[in-house]
Amino acid sequence: MFDDLPILPPDSILGLAAACRADTNPDKVDLTIGIYMDETGACPVFNAVKEAQRALIDDESTKAYIPPQGDEAFLSGMLELILGSANVKAGRDTISAVQAPGGCGAVRLGAEVLKAADPTGKVWVSRPTWPVHVPLITSTGLELSEYRYYDPSTHGVDFEGMVADLQQATHGDVVLLHGCCHNPSGADLSPDQWDVVADMAVKQGFTPMVDLAYQGFGEGLDVDVYGLRTLVAKTPEVVIAASLSKNMGLYRERTGLAIFTGPDARTADATASQAKAAARRIYSMPPAHGALIAGRVLANPLLRGGWTAELEQMCDRINGLRVDFRDRLQAATGRDFGFIAREKGMFSFLGLSEEQALEVRAKRSLYMLNSSRINIASLNQSNMDRVVDAVASVL
Ligand SMILES: Cc1ncc(COP(=O)(O)O)c(C=O)c1O
Repeated sequence: MFDDLPILPPDSILGLAAACRADTNPDKVDLTIGIYMDETGACPVFNAVKEAQRALIDDESTKAYIPPQGDEAFLSGMLELILGSANVKAGRDTISAVQAPGGCGAVRLGAEVLKAADPTGKVWVSRPTWPVHVPLITSTGLELSEYRYYDPSTHGVDFEGMVADLQQATHGDVVLLHGCCHNPSGADLSPDQWDVVADMAVKQGFTPMVDLAYQGFGEGLDVDVYGLRTLVAKTPEVVIAASLSKNMGLYRERTGLAIFTGPDARTADATASQAKAAARRIYSMPPAHGALIAGRVLANPLLRGGWTAELEQMCDRINGLRVDFRDRLQAATGRDFGFIAREKGMFSFLGLSEEQALEVRAKRSLYMLNSSRINIASLNQSNMDRVVDAVASVL
């Protein structure tokens, strides 16, 4: 049966990380994969997570399934973190939340519910968007359309182009937005631009869907959800796919949730029931470990304080690296790299051509995506000059 089964090429991002691992050059640098690295090049476990995990191991008396909707403490802690307590209170009966295996699982659950609600709707994604959005959404059968987003000539958002394209989005369509720290560009909407998008959603009747994978990595836990909370306050329905992989370092625990806001209690029951049914037919029950840890971190003021302090340090470190990297690149090339310090989160397009990205990989063992997307958090004081030299060598 498997004799003629085609072998698929490796995932474009994970394949490059594997190629870097196999590279024997001691000076190699991997800027491909989107995980937070500290100054020593390690992806750390938050202290608050370690403590919550230790307590969980002591207290846990069963490994029976958790409820299909997810762990109650996790769901309520996350709703408050993302929407803010005022929005949660105001919308108590009209909001539903279903735990999911990571942000990817949440995007898929959200897309499944949207497909059930309107099988003919289109999902508008930014050009470019995170490549994994495409299979996660199209595997439900929903079709994609692109709206202009990143302009390589300005290294910023082409907001005029975005608005012009989204003018075609109508009732039944979904517009997928990155809550903050746009992946791959690092170029985010300003608060005024979020307001415009929210007004368009109200006027045109499309449903906003927000992928929130980096809350706390841009400017802070609350500032980073300005756009999301504006959409929730103004528009009748919003779908949110949130992940704790990055901001709580729970990558391998697969910890996320899908949130649906709607007009009334009936729609909240409908979205929750559809999301649970989708989960049941794809993977059945949610993983517990990460959610039980996160629920404890969010509910315990000491752990929560420790977690937010560590997250702020990570965010400050990334923003410091952005400034340092900009200065060193400008000094080495005489070119303007100011955009690097203006962007948010872990990612940036360096603005190299595919040829140049391939050349630094072949000659300098500097690994970035072919699009020249790099993970700023993988830079550190011992590799930054090598990276700057390699980039300067092809410019
Ligand atoms: C834009 C975006 N959305 C969602 C995710 C989901 O991550 P996970 O499924 O690991 O929680 C990621 C991870 O890289 C991401 O970059």
